[in-house]
Amino acid sequence: MNKIVINGGRPLQGEVAISGAKNSVVALIPATILADDIVVLDGVPAISDVDSLIEIMKDMGASVERAGETLTIDPRGVKNVPMPYGKINSLRASYYFYGSLLGRYGEATVGLPGGCDLGPRPIDLHLKAFKAMGAEMSYEGNSMRLATKNRDLIGASVYMDTVSVGATINTMLAAVKAKGRTVIENAAREPEIIDVATLLNNMGAHIRGAGTDIITIEGVEQLHGTRHQVIPDRIEAGTYIALAAAVGEGVKISNVLYEHLEGFLAKLEEMGVRMTVSEDSVYVEKQEELQAITIKTAPYPGFATDLQQPITPLLLKAQGRGRIMDTIYEKRVNHVPELANMGAAIETQGGQILYTGPNRLQGAAVKATDLRAGAALVIAGLMAEGKTEITNVEFILRGYSNIIEKLTQLGADIQLVEA
Ligand code: UD1
Repeated sequence: MNKIVINGGRPLQGEVAISGAKNSVVALIPATILADDIVVLDGVPAISDVDSLIEIMKDMGASVERAGETLTIDPRGVKNVPMPYGKINSLRASYYFYGSLLGRYGEATVGLPGGCDLGPRPIDLHLKAFKAMGAEMSYEGNSMRLATKNRDLIGASVYMDTVSVGATINTMLAAVKAKGRTVIENAAREPEIIDVATLLNNMGAHIRGAGTDIITIEGVEQLHGTRHQVIPDRIEAGTYIALAAAVGEGVKISNVLYEHLEGFLAKLEEMGVRMTVSEDSVYVEKQEELQAITIKTAPYPGFATDLQQPITPLLLKAQGRGRIMDTIYEKRVNHVPELANMGAAIETQGGQILYTGPNRLQGAAVKATDLRAGAALVIAGLMAEGKTEITNVEFILRGYSNIIEKLTQLGADIQLVEA
């Protein structure tokens, strides 16, 4: 089993550049299936979710070339083969193949999505939207078959009962080539949705309102090739900012879009984190005393659930008592027992995380139970005295591009030990 081994307590300094956004790219790659020509994506992060998507695309007949951070996808050879098993079950975002295959072929048979265990993660809203557009669905073993009459999807009005990133993007993917107009109400407003809409519009789609809670899509007959720069990963940025505040002695985080991080940075300021924010970078100073705060996650532009776990080790350094309430995924608390195992005064109670600080963490053997819990343990390991060994590192590598290299360059003593 692969492990990350960290000798903690070393101060970090220097500059780290943020990679392209995971949650964008996992939708952008399936979106290219809708094009009739080559699509080039720049700023693609080196994460294993991308490796999996490339394999799936190749299995479907696409030609995919990767050179550094550039991905050149020729979707002209794609065949609508059933994809019940294999890589498809390994990641959550494989649900975007439902929308993109439906959009291109009017039918799809795709395995049920996997991904991190954050408690129940239904896809009923995705299916409700497809149904409104005329798709019928049936379960076939471990996969879902979606089919339309005469292979035509019809534009529809879709109201999202819960604000959902995945369901909003999936509805856009299905709707761009549907007949007529689709209106998504109570749409999610995350920057990744704007990124996907930008790619689709540059391919010839007519999407208006992405980034607001009403998105209107006029279906078009054909989409063409284009070139697209993936937006910076705001969750990776937030992770490095939290890490810099926890163990840094002057760290610049570059390739950051400040406006994507406003809710997060406001909470750091409330803690007393000293930093200088510019348009495309954040410089984090060495910190003096920090104050405990309470965090409540919310859909964008609120505090991102994906940053709740990575900020927790920093909270443990702060003076006083505080709480974390994750209103999106109440069961996203798997990092808590691992941090307690490292000596932190932290517990879960009635769906909330309670902590008291300041804490001095001790290195320990811990387990990454999901992607962002893994990020929290890396930060905790850097803060702790002594050696921390993190297992289940595959989760971390799913979403953090070149994390070992980036942290080593900042001065961390961290290694990936392959079994
Ligand atoms: C995306 C992100 C994930 C992030 C999450 C919330 C990707 C690939 N993943 O996940 O990193 O943590 O947004 O910001 O972009 N829900 C339903 N029915 C549905 C869909 C969602 O009830 O059909 C609920 C979920 O259980 C959750 C909430 O809606 O409570 C938000 O989930 P959603 O935004 O859909 O999460 P994902 O798109 O899966």
